[in-house]
Amino acid sequence: MGLPSKSFRLLPPLRLPYLFPFLLVISLFPLTALILYKVDGVVSQTKTVVGHNLKPTPWHIFPLRTFDEETRQARAYKILQCSYLTCRYRSDSTYRRRRFVKASSGPAEKCPEFFAAIYRDLQPWAESRISKAHLEAAQKYAAFRVVIVGGKLYVDLYYACVQSRAMFTIWAILQLLRRYPGMVPDVDMMFDCMDKPTISRTKHRSMPLPLFRYCTTKNHFDIPFPDWSFWGWPEINIRPWHEEFLDIKEGSQTLSWRKKVPRAYWKGNPDVSSPIRTKLLKCNHSRIWGAQIFRQDWGEAARSGFKQSKLSSQCNHRYKIYAEGYAWSVSLKYILSCGSVALIISPRYEDFFSRGLIPRENFLHIDPLHLCPAIKQAVDWGNEHDNEAEAIGRRGQELMESLSMDRLYDYMFHLISEYSKLQDFKPSPPSTAMEACAESLLCFADEKQRNYLNRSMAFPSQTHPCTIH
Ligand SMILES: *[C@@H]1O[C@H](CO)[C@@H](O)[C@H](O)[C@H]1NC(C)=O
Ligand SMILES: *[C@@H]1O[C@H](CO)[C@@H](O)[C@H](O)[C@H]1NC(C)=O
Repeated sequence: MGLPSKSFRLLPPLRLPYLFPFLLVISLFPLTALILYKVDGVVSQTKTVVGHNLKPTPWHIFPLRTFDEETRQARAYKILQCSYLTCRYRSDSTYRRRRFVKASSGPAEKCPEFFAAIYRDLQPWAESRISKAHLEAAQKYAAFRVVIVGGKLYVDLYYACVQSRAMFTIWAILQLLRRYPGMVPDVDMMFDCMDKPTISRTKHRSMPLPLFRYCTTKNHFDIPFPDWSFWGWPEINIRPWHEEFLDIKEGSQTLSWRKKVPRAYWKGNPDVSSPIRTKLLKCNHSRIWGAQIFRQDWGEAARSGFKQSKLSSQCNHRYKIYAEGYAWSVSLKYILSCGSVALIISPRYEDFFSRGLIPRENFLHIDPLHLCPAIKQAVDWGNEHDNEAEAIGRRGQELMESLSMDRLYDYMFHLISEYSKLQDFKPSPPSTAMEACAESLLCFADEKQRNYLNRSMAFPSQTHPCTIH
């Protein structure tokens, strides 16, 4: 502490007032330079949820977001501010404070049937349990790791995720913590944010690896987790689920069943290396195949502000086709929400709620080997059996209505709770992990993302989570 004044005393006393500012700058220069140098180091090494200092996942290359729009200083400021200061100095303490659910809130509701799939998804670890070694081995396939300890969330980022998937997925978990303060157990989870499952049941038979992603198949151990778009997909203007569902439902009611076009409708992107979508283009004939197939031109849609592709205006047909894309597709929930009969071309992928689908009950199955004739047959059957067809459509919509945001948090709550019971160690954040909080994500979000995040914010629940049994 004595050093600076000592060095000042060494300065010539003459004309000190004049020289002082200049000398001060000179004497502080090494310190400033040192700080800038250190800051530069920190900034160039800090990985962020929007992709700073991260490479894309090697198993799915995509163009990285560029940060050209930011100046170097603005970026440095943002990284320091959002990564290091925001969570530490936030005012909100809802995460840690346990709020007991009011006793008067009555018995908890029963969860939808498909919640039972949680036990099937976690079955591979029922005996072996989940060890640190499992997580270390799963890390090779993960884009990020989420560790919750004492209601605080820590993220260890390994790779960038495409668009805002990481931001919205981590946001989803933070909202779960807000909704059930003090109730989410300590947990250590690996996530990948890309479409295709990777933990093959044959290859990993001897040691199943626990990895969360948005879908799975019968041949994979990957554990399905609600996809980011339930909280919003700003890049293509898909709003948070509660808003989108209500709009679609309202839109679907503007036409009675009989007034809807008695044809099967599909609109999407056929160019996603999906053989089934390519095949589907060939069924585009109203009279011969009963189907109307349209190409979604995202470039065009973006230019026109996505008005034509508004999901709620896509419910004017009695039948809506679901065709998987590169893997599972987020469109399934919007298709089912229409109240039209969902014609589902036998899917290879499942997401967490598609296990609630029952053929002839809430959708009709389409055989991909006889694609166009199968569509024609379903459409003809439906048009001859108005009441039954309408009921299938309605039950599909009801399935989606039962999947409110509240139920979505309940699913995550049960999934994470059951998973945590399998851990044979006490989770603690790795040294490379950083705390994430709602404020830090809002801090990194651009204006549009912030708007979507804000609209999907959760509040402490007045009731208990639904019960599975
Ligand atoms: C399907 O047919 C309709 C009507 O003939 C046409 O407008 C539309 O562009 C066709 N879709 C594709 C993907 O070719
Ligand atoms: C978030 O939403 C609230 C009300 O819903 C509004 O008052 C606030 O300005 C919004 N904040 C942002 C950043 O959009």
